[in-house]
Amino acid sequence: MVDLDELFAVASAAAEDAGKVLLEKARVGFKISKKGRVNLVTEADLMAESVIVERILSRFPDHGILAEERGEIPSESPVKWVIDPLDGTTNYAHQYPCYCVSIACEVNGKVLVGVVFDPVSDECFHAIKGRGAFLNGTPISTSMESVLEDSLLVTGFSYGMEAIKLNLELFSTMMLQCRSVRRDGSAALDLCYVACGRFDGFWELSLFPWDVAAGSLIVTEAGGKVSCFDGSEVSIYDQECLATNGRIHDTLGNILEKSRAPSTKS
Ligand code: IPD
Ligand code: CA
Ligand code: CA
Repeated sequence: MVDLDELFAVASAAAEDAGKVLLEKARVGFKISKKGRVNLVTEADLMAESVIVERILSRFPDHGILAEERGEIPSESPVKWVIDPLDGTTNYAHQYPCYCVSIACEVNGKVLVGVVFDPVSDECFHAIKGRGAFLNGTPISTSMESVLEDSLLVTGFSYGMEAIKLNLELFSTMMLQCRSVRRDGSAALDLCYVACGRFDGFWELSLFPWDVAAGSLIVTEAGGKVSCFDGSEVSIYDQECLATNGRIHDTLGNILEKSRAPSTKS
């Protein structure tokens, strides 16, 4: 029997530990390496990931792990932890204070617990399936906005040149149809900001499970909607994601679906 409260307690403690590592490394300095042309990894990503994985495995040695920097540790357990130790690495490397730790727990293939911790603003978002979404323990909900023209949206750009070009087209289309579009550089925080009503909607084309696992649950538990652009069910293993307050979902999804090149359908 899986105890969701216990998974949540371990996820929160691990996110807090990792957040401390990120703040401390930001203070004392860290090495940066390149995984690709613009895709960075810092010493802090690796250290934060180790702290999280060690904490989880010391409590649940048989659980599976899928973590951005070390990949998958397979297991027979129904529980798999999906971890982004530092979402917003480019921001972190440039001392732009918008980044977080994202930890989710999948049980039998369904995300049931999600924690996203922003150590800079000391904001911890969490959700447990069926029990609502919270920011530092206080319930949160998505915005009431139903008019796209009055909506503030956010998107993100992955590291591949082709994906960047494709999303630039969607970005320019949407800029002309809503109040504005932000590009903050942390998909997990983008989702949490939709969950608490700071943004009305988010989309991105080229994501990984660790970017969206916790944030997507937090959005749906806050009353929002998460799907593919065409409204169909999305898995954290799909690359695209549309997350909104629900009220602008179909309007935004229809425009994105129509505007994107056919080759970007995942
Ligand atoms: C990235 C951020 C960014 C998103 C990229 C992600 P990372 O994650 O979430 O906002 O646009 O697609 O890869 O590399 O900072 O963990
Ligand atoms: Ca990420
Ligand atoms: Ca990361």
